Amino acid sequence: MSIQIPRGTQDILPGEVELWQYIEEKAKDVCRRYNYHEIRTPIFEHTDLFQRGVGDTTDIVQKEMYTFTDRGNRSLTLRPEGTAAVVRSYVEKKIYGQPNQPTKLYYTGPMFRYERPQSGRMRQFVQFGVEALGSQDPAIDAEVLALVMSLYEELGLKNVKLVLNSLGDKESREAHRQALIDHFKPSIHEFCDDCQSRLEKNPLRILDCKKDREHPLMKNAPSILDYLNEESRTYFSQVKNYLDQLGIDYVVDPTLVRGLDYYYHTAFEIMAEGEGFGAITTLCGGGRYTGLVEEIGGPSTPGIGFAFSIERVIMALKAQEQAIPSAPQLDCYLVSLGDAAKEKTVELLYQLRSAGVSADKDYLDKKMKAQFKAADRLQARFTAILGDDELSQGKINVKEMETGEQREVELTSFIDYIKEKKVGGK
Ligand code: HAM
Repeated sequence: MSIQIPRGTQDILPGEVELWQYIEEKAKDVCRRYNYHEIRTPIFEHTDLFQRGVGDTTDIVQKEMYTFTDRGNRSLTLRPEGTAAVVRSYVEKKIYGQPNQPTKLYYTGPMFRYERPQSGRMRQFVQFGVEALGSQDPAIDAEVLALVMSLYEELGLKNVKLVLNSLGDKESREAHRQALIDHFKPSIHEFCDDCQSRLEKNPLRILDCKKDREHPLMKNAPSILDYLNEESRTYFSQVKNYLDQLGIDYVVDPTLVRGLDYYYHTAFEIMAEGEGFGAITTLCGGGRYTGLVEEIGGPSTPGIGFAFSIERVIMALKAQEQAIPSAPQLDCYLVSLGDAAKEKTVELLYQLRSAGVSADKDYLDKKMKAQFKAADRLQARFTAILGDDELSQGKINVKEMETGEQREVELTSFIDYIKEKKVGGK
């Protein structure tokens, strides 16, 4: 029996990968403009990092982690998200001690969650995320949001909606937590097992339960916004004021609860609408965190960030029928006739490529007609035809495929000729 790809993973083949590269390049370009720098952390970490960082009571830690014991009997986990790992590195490498603060980082790479695979929900997916560490200025919340919203705009995404909430500081959250317990406790037996166990540990997560969404107690559950203390309320207004100043539209949704435990103050999700988009419309999630750096052993440091998966951005772009870049065409295809000419093309190909020209030739001993076909399929801009006769005269025929114009060129000037034509044609 042939071996198949694991569920919830995908191969990204040439033809499709160009879209990935395009999105990744755009995201990196926006990050450069916002002065965010790339960080790369390992794909697996000690399990403890995510238990403490993401939170023991979250679905991610309880149900979704790919955890294994290595040969040294250590418990390791394939990273389910990027923030905990970035913070681990920030603490371990003492990045907080470096001169340029706040620390503004971005990352991209595969993440792993054992979820029920469906459209936009994979077991391996690629996140692009940023983290700004070391500043509690509401302007940086606005900066992070401006960064991701600009990126979506530059990618041409439409109907993008920023949904914002404040989870308040520790004191506000504690007051809200107690109010939630008081609200749900009398009827908690009517809720699912998960909610019952969440009641004392993390009642905020009850608000995010898919199974009990329609329960009447959900509708009038205490809103965090009514429990924000003065400081938290001021912070939230400042973030909103900055967004207004930047002309970034948002809606406040007091029921927005994130699936990870580390958030305080600003929390947000970005949705996209599109026909045929399916059930999942959340493109991006993020927010501010306060205790995470300390939890992982560093000095008390605030941070804020977001992450989105490239898979969901692609889904949205396709659903909205946005123009999607296709594979770049080849500059030059070398067609040869005769053994000496065939040998010579190996050298010419090398020289073309060294000169910055994308080029290829036949390696399957194809007849001339089939070689021309290959050049067509690759959409080569130029086809250069070298026969043994031309070779003995030091010449080569170059055909510009779009115009059909054909010209005999001295072999000694062939590389420069193509190079110039390529630059001139762009
Ligand atoms: P998250 O909400 O768990 O947050 O994930 C962020 C984004 O990752 C989602 O909005 C979605 O685009 C994508 N995503 C999550 N799970 C899957 C999946 N199974 N398949 C495809 N895409 C998925 C975090 O991960 C936080 N670390 C974000 C953050 C950064 N908060 C502060 N800094």
